[in-house]
Amino acid sequence: MRLQKVIIEKIKKRGFIPFDEFMEMALYYPELGYYTRADIKIGREGDFFTASHLGEVFGFLLSRQIEILWQRLGYPEDFAVTEIGPGMGYLAKDILNSLESHIPLKYNLVEINSSLAEIQKERLKKHKNKTSWYHSIENLSPFEGVIICNEVFDALPVRLFEIRQTPQEVYVTVNEKEMFEEVFSPCRNDTLQYLMDFAPWTLKMQGYRSEVNITMKSIIEKMSKVLKRGYIVVFDYGYTAEEYYHPSRNKGTLLCYYKHTINENPYINIGEQDITAHVNFTALQKWATQEGFSIEKFSSQGSYLVSLCDEKLLKKIQEKDLIQQFKRLVLPEGMGQSHRVMVLSRL
Ligand SMILES: C[S@@+](CC[C@H](N)C(=O)[O-])C[C@H]1O[C@@H](n2cnc3c(N)ncnc32)[C@H](O)[C@@H]1O
Repeated sequence: MRLQKVIIEKIKKRGFIPFDEFMEMALYYPELGYYTRADIKIGREGDFFTASHLGEVFGFLLSRQIEILWQRLGYPEDFAVTEIGPGMGYLAKDILNSLESHIPLKYNLVEINSSLAEIQKERLKKHKNKTSWYHSIENLSPFEGVIICNEVFDALPVRLFEIRQTPQEVYVTVNEKEMFEEVFSPCRNDTLQYLMDFAPWTLKMQGYRSEVNITMKSIIEKMSKVLKRGYIVVFDYGYTAEEYYHPSRNKGTLLCYYKHTINENPYINIGEQDITAHVNFTALQKWATQEGFSIEKFSSQGSYLVSLCDEKLLKKIQEKDLIQQFKRLVLPEGMGQSHRVMVLSRL
């Protein structure tokens, strides 16, 4: 309720705010936002699961990927893995537990929520000598290695657009009952440019509504500044631009998660529900290429993880009786098809 009041006050002062600003406040307003609250919970007790919550297999497989990338980089001495938005710290723990000890690895965790950082520190205390925490990507010193983002880009604030007489953006206002309401205003220049770049066919489609994630560009630029040489591995649910902005997907992909139920109303449960949108992997590719990255791989999470599973790993998975977990990660009826991976390199 406190956050709702803060947003209402802001809107009353300005009349209306763009949807991305509303979403930014709902998710990231200091101490009150969904991801910045001290009592944030992700997983069984929270509102949604990610691959790292299914168990240790995801970490086993990623540790194999890290070994391969370390070899490809020529076994650098000062090699670092940086995980952005590490959630409950399970993936970091599973990677560090299963990485071969001869890899001289530092593991950086970029966590904006200090309460969550404490939970991660407790979970990773066995690896105290290898781990460091940072509040933002900009605070990292430039390094060689690998950046991992698991379901980070889907949690960035998005703009909403709707094609009316002309392309319009959604703004949020409040009515006399202090309920949030949408109003429309012509698209800002960079929103229009994005639509011309990635979805020009939607511009004449009356009633077409979807999202634009411009924040992703600035995150890639920040990563580019700190990664001297190496790889970025991005896991997320998402589409190519053609799939994302397909004429049939005319209501976009914005969804809210609240206690493991899904709704389409971002104007309720303020600060208590996750708000998320799929990732436009074509935009990710374009913006990463502009920063000098090449696309090493773009595939479904399923086929990517299967390709990492060599005989030794498969034996380990079987011996530990983790086949069901593996199946949930790779099969289409689990996360294998809905989630994708893009591996970017700059060497
Ligand atoms: C959907 S959660 C995923 C958490 C975790 N990676 C997992 O798989 O369980 C998205 C996370 O990304 C974080 N995030 C978003 N933007 C960020 C940024 N610029 N820097 C660091 N973390 C960020 C959020 O705070 C949130 O913890």
